[in-house]
Amino acid sequence: MCGIIGVTGAADALDVLLDGLERLEYRGYDSAGVALVNHGDVARWRIADGTHSVASLRSLTGSAPPAQAGLGHTRWATHGQPNEANAHPHLDCGGNLALVHNGIIENHAELAAGLIERGHVLTSVTDSEVLAHLIEELMETTGSLLTSVQQALLVVRGAFAIGVMSETEPELIVAARRISPLIVGRSQGASYLASDIPAILERTRDVVIVEDDQVVELRPGSIIVRDRDGHEVVPRSMHIDWDIEAAQKDGFDDFMTKEISEQPRAIADTLRGRISDEGCIVLDRFELSDERVRSTNKIVMVACGSSFHAALVAKYAFERWTRIPVEVDIASEFRYRDPVLDKQTLVIGVSQSGESVDTLQAVRHGADGGAATMVVTNVVDSTMAREADAVLYTRAGPEISVASTKTVLASIVALQLLGLHLARVRGSLDDAAFAAEIAALGSLEAMVADTISRDEQTRTVANAVMDARDFFFLGRHAGYPTALEGALKLKEISYLHAEGYPGGELKHGPLAVIEPGCVVVALATGSPLKEKMLSNVAEVKSRGATVILVVDDGDEVAAALGDYCIFVPAAPELHAPVKDLVPLQQFAYHLARGRGFNVDRPRNLAKTVTVE
Ligand code: AGP
Repeated sequence: MCGIIGVTGAADALDVLLDGLERLEYRGYDSAGVALVNHGDVARWRIADGTHSVASLRSLTGSAPPAQAGLGHTRWATHGQPNEANAHPHLDCGGNLALVHNGIIENHAELAAGLIERGHVLTSVTDSEVLAHLIEELMETTGSLLTSVQQALLVVRGAFAIGVMSETEPELIVAARRISPLIVGRSQGASYLASDIPAILERTRDVVIVEDDQVVELRPGSIIVRDRDGHEVVPRSMHIDWDIEAAQKDGFDDFMTKEISEQPRAIADTLRGRISDEGCIVLDRFELSDERVRSTNKIVMVACGSSFHAALVAKYAFERWTRIPVEVDIASEFRYRDPVLDKQTLVIGVSQSGESVDTLQAVRHGADGGAATMVVTNVVDSTMAREADAVLYTRAGPEISVASTKTVLASIVALQLLGLHLARVRGSLDDAAFAAEIAALGSLEAMVADTISRDEQTRTVANAVMDARDFFFLGRHAGYPTALEGALKLKEISYLHAEGYPGGELKHGPLAVIEPGCVVVALATGSPLKEKMLSNVAEVKSRGATVILVVDDGDEVAAALGDYCIFVPAAPELHAPVKDLVPLQQFAYHLARGRGFNVDRPRNLAKTVTVE
């Protein structure tokens, strides 16, 4: 999500930081900042200038005095607007200590309340700033930056990679990690830290991968890694021989594979801190009162493309859990059909970018019709997020590949959280059912990771049908929108003819075009309609189609009906699409690569569509 960098012991510390931040530019960000420690003083520069932030920061720091140590940060907002006050580095009250952070501090609200009560003045609304003040407080008693960071991390819940400097020990940077990535390295008398390899690749190719709960002391040319008990450990080193472009893709061939691999993290981050210890759902900026939720008698979700499919998947869960009727509409159609809207309607826009003009106009149309509006988006402070009555952010991090993957899964998971919240407020789901759904959400991260790791079976199946030109994706129940998304992914990046259908609809027309040479990808994972799906499969098989079945582990009976099979872990039917989408993404990917196409930049398409 955010990018962090730090250096100590380099004559050109500011250049190291700015060059490193520039190397993270490909990810997109909303603001940037650096802090330098010079002659025992901490000086800081920050700017919120969208994707120009690093260039603007270079101008801003043009007359900065030379320094040998400092920290830098590019921000992809998760807590608080993308403005200068929320940009990193953050300082303590005395301005003696600077901190950069990537991750999410789950218990920031309670920590901030305690700090304010004890007289601290917080100047941002980020979750990160609390850490700077916590460490400041501990420094008063310990007098040591290392000990203070170690102690502060004991009370912090969530994910973090941090770098901290203090004017009391100007050559020292203390870095630490839990869940969020962090690497450190050294060369020619300087030591470096970074969230991402490209940031420091021009300075060193030998890096140490910092593990969870390790704390690192960086001094000029020296790195000491300690475990959670403070014992020095032998670090895990790695030599990087990638070029910058490969490093930006984390060593993957393209951003699409990188982003597919990031899906478990996207799911975990989207859920992080939103399910309390008592099992309640805590939504950060949910400004619809319980009374408003209870009076809602219709929900309309509006979206385009993959976000439309995410909304369709969520409809099944929403209706079952909340018992509120849900319509899902193509955003570009919604406002032109004179929809019935009133004060009891809730219009939910689903958009990873928060900027697709069709969805934006649809949400505005909902507001004009008197409906309450809400947006599920991946981009903090996007136009839709600013305009809607309420917003729920997915936390997938920047998505670069035009074909959406991780933001789709994160949108489904965020919508499921929202559906459970609405059900809870309305009392439409009993305690046992609610607990079961929460447990199912909690198991998705591992299940998706498991599914991703099975890429080889999908690659083999894709290779077997590499010459086919016509593809039909079939699903039933929540598997139907899953099939639609599988077909869209294939169309987008491989330019093949692909259609998604509900299995039961085949006999009403599409069966006429099924003939030898057609490939049918059928989702036959756990669902009450699985038997019916398998009958639909028999229909296409008898017309000569090649059948690829996506089936649950161990379901050999279903598997026997396919020409090829892709096995996935079993999940409850409303959650199954989250992991069933993975092999469909991989299938599209392998066919596109096999046909020699650039999967990240498909022809004729833009990542964000801001024209009608
Ligand atoms: C997805 O792979 C596509 N690139 C496209 O359909 C996309 O989902 C659609 O344009 C909606 O974008 P949004 O989520 O940013 O609104």
